[in-house]
Amino acid sequence: MVQPLGHHRPQWKTHIGFLLAAVGSAIGLGNIWRFPYLCYKNGGGAFLIPYFIALFVVGIPLMILEVGLGHKMRGSSPASFASISKKWEWLGWWQVIFVMFGIVLYYSVVISWCVNFFFYAFKLGWTQDPNAFFFQKFLMVSKGPFDLGDLRTPIVFSLLIVWFLNWLIVFSGVQKGLERANKIFMPLLLLLTAFIVFWSVRLPGAKSGLLVYLKPDFSRLSDIRVWMDAFSQIFFTLSLGFGIMITYASYLPHKSQIVRDSFIISVTNCLFSIFAGFGVFSVLGYMAQTTSKEFGDVVTQSIGLAFVAYPKAISTLPGFSALFGVIFFAILVIAGLSSAISILEAFTSALVDKFHYRRKIVVSVLSLCGFLGGIIFATQAGLYWLDIVDHFLTQYGLVIVAIFECIVVGWIFKATRMRAHIAHFSVWHLKRWWDVAIKVVTPLILGALLFSSFIDEIAKPYGDYSRLALILIGRDWLIYTLFLAIFVAYHSWKIEPSERMLKHPEA
Ligand code: PHE
Repeated sequence: MVQPLGHHRPQWKTHIGFLLAAVGSAIGLGNIWRFPYLCYKNGGGAFLIPYFIALFVVGIPLMILEVGLGHKMRGSSPASFASISKKWEWLGWWQVIFVMFGIVLYYSVVISWCVNFFFYAFKLGWTQDPNAFFFQKFLMVSKGPFDLGDLRTPIVFSLLIVWFLNWLIVFSGVQKGLERANKIFMPLLLLLTAFIVFWSVRLPGAKSGLLVYLKPDFSRLSDIRVWMDAFSQIFFTLSLGFGIMITYASYLPHKSQIVRDSFIISVTNCLFSIFAGFGVFSVLGYMAQTTSKEFGDVVTQSIGLAFVAYPKAISTLPGFSALFGVIFFAILVIAGLSSAISILEAFTSALVDKFHYRRKIVVSVLSLCGFLGGIIFATQAGLYWLDIVDHFLTQYGLVIVAIFECIVVGWIFKATRMRAHIAHFSVWHLKRWWDVAIKVVTPLILGALLFSSFIDEIAKPYGDYSRLALILIGRDWLIYTLFLAIFVAYHSWKIEPSERMLKHPEA
């Protein structure tokens, strides 16, 4: 006999365990090198204004929506949407599929670069010219996206380590794996980051770096792109639209503080970004001073920041430079892993909910697929592929999914109904503003964002890539995963989600 799903649904052992896991998913590579770079590019301290507006207008309402939905439906993302209406099940599948077989494939490759650099750091192995080292020696970047070249063995090797760790943690289960790992990872991450920040702010020249970071240039606020950057960063950094928060919330006990927890997760994540930014900018300021260069010349694109500018600065530190490097790359690895495992869990949970496959088998097969799928990003053309896939999945995929989430929960399920569920347990009251945010404000803002990205895309193809590469690698990635999602949604359930809710009304 098939067991009803509710019986086997894992639960967090402790409330703090849930919070740490959710914060662990949110804090990732995006906080440490993407955020400071965006800040610098978009008017320093002035960027914090659109960033916080995005956090409060779109980020927190959506976080409440995802946590509320998972808690109410007690299911992974596809199960939750299917419980609202079978017609929308594909939405849940699409998000977990393109995140698992898209974002996490290249994300794990970036974590594996960090693993390699962690080892190089012991001997400052990136030579006197980190730029040439990274692009020519380490990645051996080929001429274009269709010139795959050879596999980069050091990257494949560390990718294996990364997927082994992903597998090990998720395989061990929600309590013994995810919860335990995050209980170690998060305090360690905070400690190491604090160590690096306090070290950095005392370096000569740090002050000038911090001035650039925090000095607001309000004139930048009239540029629509600054606002677009702020909104898409909030999205990526809070892991919204990934289906992760829905799944994590489904493991919460019946009586939970949805509103308060959503605030805590979102605000902690953003404060961490700002805090880490102090370290990054101090080091850049130090470097500008020692090399007597203009500040703008030492700041590079996000990938360059971690793998070129930072190694360069680390090599010139007055003392214990290897230690600094080792800690910095350890921070990136830890932050990255705690995010990667969250999507592996979200996908596993989706398959277990629908097909009742054995969890351990699902995790093992998925980890193997993740490793094999990631190999394309470990070729000499990997950097191009990563850049294109990232652009399409984050600028379009996540935003489209979030608009649909708002429509399905706000209009079809009804925002008031969801709010009533949330209010039932909440000590923090959720007022009508949330309904308006979910039904009108958020979808409108995201729609405008999507529209302007699209117009930009047509006017000027992303990067310097050929249109063919963008279509075949980027756009088609979204389309094929959508087909796959519809195909999976079409299959029948072992136990209907609606039946499951009836059988376990409490669940
Ligand atoms: N929030 C993560 C970050 O900022 C993004 C992420 C989450 C990526 C989960 C992959 C998986 O880096």
